Formats: sequence, C-alpha cells, structure tokens
Amino acid sequence: MMDAVAEETKTTMAYDNLKLERQAPVAVLTIDRPKVLNALNDATIAELSRAFDELAADPDIRCIILTGGGDKAFVAGADIGELARCDVQGGIAKSKRGIDLLFKMEGLPKPIIAAINGFALGGGCEIAMACDFRIAADTAQLGQPEVTLGIIPGYGGTQRLPRLVGAGTAKKLLFTGDRIKADEALRIGLVDEVVPAAGLMEHCQKLAQRISERGPLAVATVKKAVNFGLNVDLPAGCEYEITHFGVLCASEDQKEGCNAFLEKRKPGFTGR
Ligand code: COA
Repeated sequence: MMDAVAEETKTTMAYDNLKLERQAPVAVLTIDRPKVLNALNDATIAELSRAFDELAADPDIRCIILTGGGDKAFVAGADIGELARCDVQGGIAKSKRGIDLLFKMEGLPKPIIAAINGFALGGGCEIAMACDFRIAADTAQLGQPEVTLGIIPGYGGTQRLPRLVGAGTAKKLLFTGDRIKADEALRIGLVDEVVPAAGLMEHCQKLAQRISERGPLAVATVKKAVNFGLNVDLPAGCEYEITHFGVLCASEDQKEGCNAFLEKRKPGFTGR
C-alpha cells in the first residue's frame, strides 16, 4: 500500500529552493530553505512563479497546499541579505516581482491553502495573504516587521492586510512591526483556522481533498468571482456572477453535477 502511494507521488526535482510533491488531485509546494527560515530570495520568487505556472497547467491537480520547510517557519520574510544590497531601482524591481507573483497566485484557477507551520513574517505573511485560506499551526507567529528594518512591506502588505483585518488593526501591526501569535491572528481575521501543529498538514490535506471533489470549473469560477468582487462595487460583482453562472450552465460539469444529484450518485467531474 505504501509503495502504491509512493508511486503515485510525483516529485519535481527541477527546483533548488522548493519541493513540489504532486499526489493528484493535491499538490504540496514547500518553500525549502530552512537554514534561513525559508526567506524569499530572488531565485525563490522566480521558482515559485514557475511552480505555480506548472501547477496551473497540470490537469490532474485541483488544489495546492503551500507550506514552509523545517519545523520553525512558513517564511520569515524577504531575504534580508539580498535586501541590504538594494538601491532604488533594485528595490522597485524586487517589489514588482513579488507583487506579480502574488497576483499570479490570486489569479490561479485552483485554490491555494497556506499551511502556516511557524513564522510568517514580512513577505511570508504577504504570500500567505495571497492564498485562498490561511490555516495556522498553534505555534505560528505572524507579522509585518519591515519598519524594524527601516522599510515598508513590498509584496502588497500595506494593501492586503487592511482589506483582511481593517485599517486600524493593520496599521497597528504595520507601524509596530509586532509579531502576533496564531490565536490573536485568528481573532483579528488574519488566519482562518488554528490547529495543533502536529495535525496541520493532515488538516490541510483533508480540506484540499474535499475541495478537489467539487466541480473544478465551479471552484475556479468561485475564486475568480470572489477576488473580482473584492475590488469592485456590489452591482458590478453581481453582474460578474450572473455572467459566469450562465457560462457554467454550458459546461459538462454542470450537466454531470445536476444529473448525479438526480440519479442519486456521486458526480465525476472532468473540469470541462
Ligand atoms: N532573511 C535572511 N535570513 C534570515 C531571515 C530573513 N528574513 N530570517 C531568518 N534568517 C536567518 C538568520 O539570519 C539565521 O541565520 P544564521 O543561522 O546564519 O545566523 C537563521 O535564519 C535562523 O534565524 P534566527 O534569527 O537565528 O532564529 P530565531 O529563532 O532566533 O529568530 C526570527 C527567528 C524569525 C524571529 C528572526 O529570524 C527574525 O526576526 N527574522 C527576520 C524577520 C523579518 O524581519 N522579516 C521581514 C524581512 S523584510
């Protein structure tokens, strides 16, 4: 049995800073630089962008779990060694690459679950905020400590954090650079769930498997509609919903889902 499971797991070896395990329908993408608490250097950002393209194109993958290597950190921020050498142009380019990556994640037609297994600081907190859910280990700590380094967040933190937790709470975190524990992050809405550290991956896997059983076109469209709606007013968001509701009515998945219900059987969605 173990062998059968191992055979089905496809591990991609083409990354220096990531581990990508594809056990369809779920992929686990691990940012894997534990010696520096998975700090995001430029090479890691580039690899993440490539990995998400690869996962978007893989028809067997329906849900992605993003986590950090080792047992201490999800991601402890941008790599401060690289940051220290940035001039104005370098800083702008670095920020833009991170911002582009996070938009790619939000635009990906598959859910991404952040399994926050430790420190999620600076760019780590920002990358988690671009995921569809944040599930934190009870040992996790989150924060935006950039002001302690004399800079501001550069991967969208000044924008996504207030949208998630409200302006006052966001400014408090952004002005102080304080780290907060998982239970406080849950209270303010920065994470969606807190679970015991030992059960984090199993919990995320169960959620990912459940989502993967649903119609993939429908799940992708829900993600698009929610993200679109967060940036426009209610009537524009509802117009978007009307159109895409109609579009999905032309899909094979819609016929399969409705017929399966009527025939009292489990649907077999194909994503068409
Ligand atoms: N960039 C580069 N290296 C980092 C890093 C980062 N963002 N975060 C941690 N590291 C490195 C440390 O320099 C250390 O390397 P060393 O073993 O060669 O000295 C290693 O990771 C372990 O970190 P350490 O600080 O010894 O662990 P700790 O448990 O004492 O503290 C943190 C953990 C997360 C509180 C602390 O590492 C920290 O504050 N990191 C920076 C967080 C930050 O400001 N991020 C935003 C960047 S914009």
